[in-house]
Amino acid sequence: MRFSVHPPITNASGPNSVTYAELERLARSDAGAVVTKSMTHCPRTGNPEPRLRERLHNNIGSLNSMGLPNLGYHEYAQIIPKLKEYKKPVIASIASARCSHNLAPIEQYREIALTMAHAGADLLELNLSCPNLEEVPISMDPQSVRQVLKAVMKEVKIPVGVKLSPYNNTPKLFEEIAQILLDFEIAYVATINSEPLTLDIDVKTKTKVIRPNEGYGGLGGPAVLPIALAEVHRFYKFFQKHNAQISVWGVGGILKAEDAIKHFLAGASVIQIGTLYLWEGPAAFAKLWAGIQEWLHANGYTCVEELVGTVRDL
Ligand code: SIN
Repeated sequence: MRFSVHPPITNASGPNSVTYAELERLARSDAGAVVTKSMTHCPRTGNPEPRLRERLHNNIGSLNSMGLPNLGYHEYAQIIPKLKEYKKPVIASIASARCSHNLAPIEQYREIALTMAHAGADLLELNLSCPNLEEVPISMDPQSVRQVLKAVMKEVKIPVGVKLSPYNNTPKLFEEIAQILLDFEIAYVATINSEPLTLDIDVKTKTKVIRPNEGYGGLGGPAVLPIALAEVHRFYKFFQKHNAQISVWGVGGILKAEDAIKHFLAGASVIQIGTLYLWEGPAAFAKLWAGIQEWLHANGYTCVEELVGTVRDL
């Protein structure tokens, strides 16, 4: 089930998308859709602070181990109808995490998905890849990916996308996951979630820059652009080869129009911004879209679709 977003830019689920005030700011911006923070069954305060270094040295990116702080899905069921008043698609991002209700992850995804569809979400983004929890991300286990998709797709009638980890070091796992996705009518794959298990050190204080998980967290921003491009391109080619109607949404390393153009050339039809949104706030959407349009015009294109997946081999 295809789903189009205009302009083809949204926030990446994560930065500043937890509360109604934050989500309303996104709804008022020039983003093509609003993506919520990944919601879980129980509300979560997340990992201990400091858990986010917004800017790493030389602006190479951001590092976080937030641990999915969010209001819990019941609260988002109240927020979503209010966001819909802004007349742009609302994408409910859903994750699972251990909580006192002891529900299995599959049950958590299923129940939240049903509730969000009922609340009026236009699309669901199943976040299978949070790198900052105690449990191994579901995206690393093909059978769990299949079970979650089966449980959710059986129940909901609205389009569903999945947010995945980078598989650049695990090509066999990439093949297995991509093959499973073919069995479901998903709308899109958002790739990549932040690069997991990365570390930075402050040389002045000689300490790690974040506290949780012994300082290891997910890297986003310019440093991950080549990793994201590779993942976008591999998924795009895989879906083309198998005639699958699954779009690729590019996430990772987009700071300026040229980075977005690279994502489109690699095969992304929509892009999401995380670190850029963290750094520049809601104004980032209009600025980026203006830059993309300028580039298209200067290079003889009339729309983004003409570019998607057209990168050439040397
Ligand atoms: C987090 O809350 O830890 C980040 C969410 C994610 O990367 O999936």
